[in-house]
Amino acid sequence: MTKRKIGILTSGGDCSGLNSVIRAAYIRATQIGYELLGIRRGLRGLASNSPEYTLLNANYCNESLLSASGSILYADANLVSYAAQAGLSADDIKRSLYAGYKKLGLNGLICVGGDGSLKMIAELLCTNNEINLIAIPKTIDNDVNGTDVAVGFQTAVDVAVGAIENVITSAKSHERAIVVEVMGRDAGFIAMCAGLASGAHIILVPEFRYDLDKVKQRVARCFDNGRGYCILVVAESVESEDFKHKREMVDGVVKYTHLVYDGIGNHLAACIKEIGIDARTVTLGHIQRGGRTSVSDRILGTMFGVEAVTQIDVGNRSRLLCYVNGKVKAVGIADSLKCPTKSLSKDNAYVQLARQLGVYIGEV
Ligand code: F6P
Repeated sequence: MTKRKIGILTSGGDCSGLNSVIRAAYIRATQIGYELLGIRRGLRGLASNSPEYTLLNANYCNESLLSASGSILYADANLVSYAAQAGLSADDIKRSLYAGYKKLGLNGLICVGGDGSLKMIAELLCTNNEINLIAIPKTIDNDVNGTDVAVGFQTAVDVAVGAIENVITSAKSHERAIVVEVMGRDAGFIAMCAGLASGAHIILVPEFRYDLDKVKQRVARCFDNGRGYCILVVAESVESEDFKHKREMVDGVVKYTHLVYDGIGNHLAACIKEIGIDARTVTLGHIQRGGRTSVSDRILGTMFGVEAVTQIDVGNRSRLLCYVNGKVKAVGIADSLKCPTKSLSKDNAYVQLARQLGVYIGEV
């Protein structure tokens, strides 16, 4: 008898914890009588004429995947911009995805993606109910609505905290201010959590405008009060009256593109130098997407991987798995993606905590 088949793919930027999802899905799938096909290069891989896949097995999916960052299935390039360049319409892409699903003989598909990929998946794959799709949120930015946390976020924060701790000793030795620029796109979750966990004196996030004079005063206070160094954590997309990002689109396509964020860390360091305090910038960039996967991401990824297979097995489709109050629940993907992406609000517990500690986090 031919075995039932589930496909799994990772879409969008890589992060830690993706391989934990894949391993867990493999274990659960084989337990209940499915084969798990690892589709390479995400949605674009599925949409290609001959979808490239690996029949996952125990050798591939051993425990070493728990700690390994990246995706053994590779990240995909932007499907929509590729399609636009190739002159394909949204309907063409839908047809190609469905053709790929059928060619592989799948009974269900697990897509692990960030907010951009999830929106694309909801539009392309969930509109006609032809594909039994379960989506899993992953992103170091943690900006997917509906889930307390997405796969990859907690490791990114751990990596950022480790890096900040490393620069503190240098800041102390040289009596400098060091600005650490972290990723996060339009959300300040990484900056806020990493700043709080490493004892930063100033944390700037895109959600709250900063006042440059107050930043300078707070930096100066670190030196006036005898501390002799200052740590600032700034999210890559922060801007204010004194600093604006270039509004450039990547790939020149309207949907699913993003701005290139660059330079806020250097700008702040230059401003701090103006008040006679030596300053340096460290831009963490993609190191936040790798490293040893944190315990939290291993467990979160494992919970999601197991639940995704279970959902497909019971016949559910077009669901997004969310982690809420310690449990995984499945919500309708289209409804959950109607709201804009998640960001820090004034009443967020971390924001309140930072304020109670006297950390300058902008004009909240
Ligand atoms: O969305 C995840 C993320 O790492 C953002 O934090 C960052 O701005 C962006 O992706 C970087 O994208 P790329 O890998 O395409 O440079």
